[in-house]
Amino acid sequence: MRDNMAKTIPYGKQTITDEDVKAVADVLRSEYLTTGPKVGEFEAALCKYTGAKHAVAVNSGTSALDIAVAALELPAGSEIITTPFTFVASANCALYNNCKPVFADIDSRTYNIDPDAIKKKITKKTRAIVYVDYAGQPCEIDELREIAGKHSLALIEDAAHSLGAEYKGKRVGTFADMTCFSFHPVKHITTGEGGAVTTQSDELASKLRMLRSHGIDKTPQERATYLYDMKMLGRNYRITDFQCALGISQLKKIADNLKQRENVAQLYGKLLAGMPVTLPYVSPEVRHAWHLYVVLLDK
Ligand SMILES: Cc1ncc(COP(=O)(O)O)c(C=O)c1O
Repeated sequence: MRDNMAKTIPYGKQTITDEDVKAVADVLRSEYLTTGPKVGEFEAALCKYTGAKHAVAVNSGTSALDIAVAALELPAGSEIITTPFTFVASANCALYNNCKPVFADIDSRTYNIDPDAIKKKITKKTRAIVYVDYAGQPCEIDELREIAGKHSLALIEDAAHSLGAEYKGKRVGTFADMTCFSFHPVKHITTGEGGAVTTQSDELASKLRMLRSHGIDKTPQERATYLYDMKMLGRNYRITDFQCALGISQLKKIADNLKQRENVAQLYGKLLAGMPVTLPYVSPEVRHAWHLYVVLLDK
């Protein structure tokens, strides 16, 4: 059993440096383990990297998706169009919020949601689209924005696979109304478990901050006065300061991480050339973040 395990190539694995360990240990010895200064510092670093106005860090990518849908305050029974070719969280975020996930098929080249398939699924009850940058390749964002604009739909980008990816020369993080990231250890950077929502909207950012912490309209520091209201049905999705310290330290290394993934993808391409498989198609309009390298077997 152990021998077999040793030969298994992991699906994904974190890289933790001495610097990362020190960053976490420093916070463990500090005053705040949670709701302290590292959360805001991590959010500022994410804003700087993605170009987003706001980032709200939470305890997982699943939580990020959940509060992104919750922030839209949709009536029960609203339909949210998403892709069937993804992790379960991309559709479950609709169910958590009493909405119905409606699946639109994928493009056979990119494996991303097909804008034409979305058009066929729009009904009077459709309120939003959750699109996933599958494997790290951004979707046809201009087309999705056009559809959303025409039908007054909210756009949520599930960018769990695509931190650092680019569409038409711009990094993922500002294209949709809200963009959701995951920092699970298999992703480009990790906080152990963790996630974030980025947005350009002050109103959505304020709702996301409330939803992350019980729907309460005051920050934990302000709450020390014990005068606060619960404005929305929030959750406790707060991320700790030591996780954020890890995130800050990890984010400093993302350029190397992306380059290394590009090199590995190129190597796979060379080694698999001539085999009975279809290699991944990469649109000329994107920089792929290579979370996954997916081949289609000919038979
Ligand atoms: C496309 C996609 N969305 C959302 C998630 C959920 O992220 P997390 O595991 O951080 O909750 C994942 C996790 O792998 C994912 O692949």
